[in-house]
Amino acid sequence: MSESHPPRPPARSPVHAAAATDEWWRSAVIYQVYPRSFADSDGDGVGDLPGITSRLSYLGELGADAVWISPFFVSPQADGGYDVADYCDVDPVFGTLADADALIARAHELGLRVLVDLVPNHTSDKHPWFLAALAATPGSPERDWYIFRDPDPADPERLPNNWPSVFGGPAWSKAPDGQWYLHLFDSGQPDLNWENPRVRAAFLDILRFWLDRGVDGFRVDVAHGMIKAPGLPDFAHTAEDLQAGVIPTHAAPFWDQDRVHEIYRSWRQLLESYPGERAMVAEAWVQPHDRLARYVRPDEHHQAFNFAILSSAWSADALRTSITDSFRANDSVGAPTTWVLSNHDVIRHATRLGWVGDEATPQLGTRVPTPNPELGLRRARAATTLLLALPGGAYLYQGEELGLPEVLELDAHVRQDPTFRRTEGAVLGRDGCRVPIPWERHAPAFGFSPSGQSWLPQPTGFGELAMDQQEGVSGSTLELYRALLATRRSRSLGTGALAFVELGEQVVAFDITSEVGVTHVVLNLGVADWPIPAHLQILVSSSPTVTDRLPTDCAVWLADHSA
Ligand code: GLC
Repeated sequence: MSESHPPRPPARSPVHAAAATDEWWRSAVIYQVYPRSFADSDGDGVGDLPGITSRLSYLGELGADAVWISPFFVSPQADGGYDVADYCDVDPVFGTLADADALIARAHELGLRVLVDLVPNHTSDKHPWFLAALAATPGSPERDWYIFRDPDPADPERLPNNWPSVFGGPAWSKAPDGQWYLHLFDSGQPDLNWENPRVRAAFLDILRFWLDRGVDGFRVDVAHGMIKAPGLPDFAHTAEDLQAGVIPTHAAPFWDQDRVHEIYRSWRQLLESYPGERAMVAEAWVQPHDRLARYVRPDEHHQAFNFAILSSAWSADALRTSITDSFRANDSVGAPTTWVLSNHDVIRHATRLGWVGDEATPQLGTRVPTPNPELGLRRARAATTLLLALPGGAYLYQGEELGLPEVLELDAHVRQDPTFRRTEGAVLGRDGCRVPIPWERHAPAFGFSPSGQSWLPQPTGFGELAMDQQEGVSGSTLELYRALLATRRSRSLGTGALAFVELGEQVVAFDITSEVGVTHVVLNLGVADWPIPAHLQILVSSSPTVTDRLPTDCAVWLADHSA
């Protein structure tokens, strides 16, 4: 006689406990606006603050909790605004301080928090501080705001050390009088000297200026760069070793030096002296994970971007490892983990994931593989479905909710990223993810600008992806994002606990447990379909055709409503 056993429940391994407190920044979905490319109100072909304000209700309807706005301060735009010439004023191309106030007020009316982008590692070479430094003599207090070095009298062309610029070429350029100055990025972005107490005091004032205007916090640009190793010693490794993670980031004498944390402790104290829950998020491309976790200790940043998933290969193993390692590191310091797939510096994930296997590097290199747009979008939707289920903070980059691809076919003469110029075109750079957003298929510049101008040309294919082509259309990428965000909120996924579930080598599966119940999340990376158990109902699916089987490169959120 055969005995019938109930099916054995799959093994569960808890990885992350539910959040003990619920400050907004522990689980917020933060939408990144790149102002030049979001919405242009005055027809000059460049997006602006009134344009952003006019579209804020769209972000509310999408279900975002906050908006992070890339720099809109006075800037010669040598690096898309990450070269700031006045931290306390708005560049005329983007509007005025009154426009910034109006934007913040409207966002708050809609229940959206606002983070502004603070760029403390370097200024523009047109900043009055740098102009004063150039006008003063070597060794003067004015030069001490930056990192100047005397030329070698025996060999004036010899660089002070071998540090590379992130954008290509050496990290040193000459002032007119022959002294060298350091710039880890473009020559138009001289590095500030954070050993100088005046620099530290000036930035506390800048933080106060924006906190007083009502911002909810800051995204801190290049947060791992401000302190350099004493004596500026040569870099003993290569940029390739750094990129590949062969060495820890702090092995480079210009990144992730321990004393940078003093600065953040003083900023945190300042933020805490303001009412409300103001927050800072660090942009620190630092590995391994436990080094990144140091930026989010309780007296430093509230969050740090976690680029693990963004940099991960499209494999079940790699994704599981990224998730586990990220939680382990951040949980050890009581900080939320954040998740991100796209931003203004990397290839849009709808394109990146359409490249097979190891070619899926986040930065545009010398070689451009041929993307497969259908595969890319299918995987991008699945990746986002995975990402938005994960407890912690999530970042979305403008246009990803429309499934926008990277624009690869931009002519050399329209490209503006300094990387392209500094590598003489060897590295294409980041313009392809910065092409202005299509809002309405049949409007000039797809609704980006009333005049039809656009600082980077939009490809014709953007028309069918325009917001008005997707809004209310079941199965569209926009409606998928809306459903994911609404369900994430209603099921409290952002503050839930996570346990992996074993459903097979090629399946990433986990349960999120919150006060609402258990949400099962499954991403299938195998070739065979994964049969969806009959007792589970689909809450959201990355592919509109999924019913009882989950095909490859699709993800689903499930719940047992009978339980
Ligand atoms: C950050 C920004 C990037 C900028 C760089 C220099 O990585 O995200 O866009 O080019 O810093 O400020």
